[in-house]
Amino acid sequence: MSKKYVIANFKMNKLDAEVGNYVDELKEKVKDMDLEIILSVPFVSIKTAVWHAQGTNISIAGQNLNENDFGAFTGEINAEMLCAVGANAVLVGHSERRNHFKETDVVINKKIMKGLRSGLLSVLCVGETLFDKKNNLTTQVLQKQITESLNSIYANELSHIVIAYEPVWAIGTGVIASKEEISNAIKTIRSLLVDLYDEKIASEVKVIYGGSINEKNVKDISSISNIDGVLVGGASLDVDKFYKIACAFNTEKKTKKKTKSEQKSK
Ligand code: 13P
Repeated sequence: MSKKYVIANFKMNKLDAEVGNYVDELKEKVKDMDLEIILSVPFVSIKTAVWHAQGTNISIAGQNLNENDFGAFTGEINAEMLCAVGANAVLVGHSERRNHFKETDVVINKKIMKGLRSGLLSVLCVGETLFDKKNNLTTQVLQKQITESLNSIYANELSHIVIAYEPVWAIGTGVIASKEEISNAIKTIRSLLVDLYDEKIASEVKVIYGGSINEKNVKDISSISNIDGVLVGGASLDVDKFYKIACAFNTEKKTKKKTKSEQKSK
């Protein structure tokens, strides 16, 4: 069974020293876990986070990237810059970027291409607004976002893309999508991938969920059969809560192994 993704999105939170301390605490707790653990930290703390996470099972991501190469783009950071400081992943098309910074699917597509071609894992965020949901537009919205964002992306590049279904109405609201809504959205995303690529590719792409995940509701969400992990905002800011969320996705096999070695050491 392939590894699940447990991804933190710190958004615009935590000072550099706090990020370092967080990684130090987390790495001890998760060291035996068989998961893809990724922390998306503010740009200015990527280097610190990478340094503290060296030799661990934690990867560091940017929360955005500019779609251009080097040049006159004041205040922006490109894919090569992220790679140069040790990030190996990046969030792309988060709804806060779409909403506050007017990112379109066309721009998001360019960002994914730049990320992929620099070797970054791209976590593509998609999801409908409350208005879309109320008007039964979820499938239509996902179709547009996925089709346009993945335009000209080759099938063999999809292993470097994780799709995060993050309904906008569930982000930071405490209103989590139901298991059925999540499972249906994941099915919709996979069937769109079948249309764009093929069955095999569609079944291999990782699809995760984000929106008001916390240490209490994660157990229930982790039981959704077609979910490949979670993208966590608010609850990821607390290392203990994030650890508990990771525990819910840690594979059984590893837990059993740990129990055996624990028994030996007694
Ligand atoms: P919350 O977990 O705070 O709802 O945020 C989700 C999110 O936006 C992760 O990218």
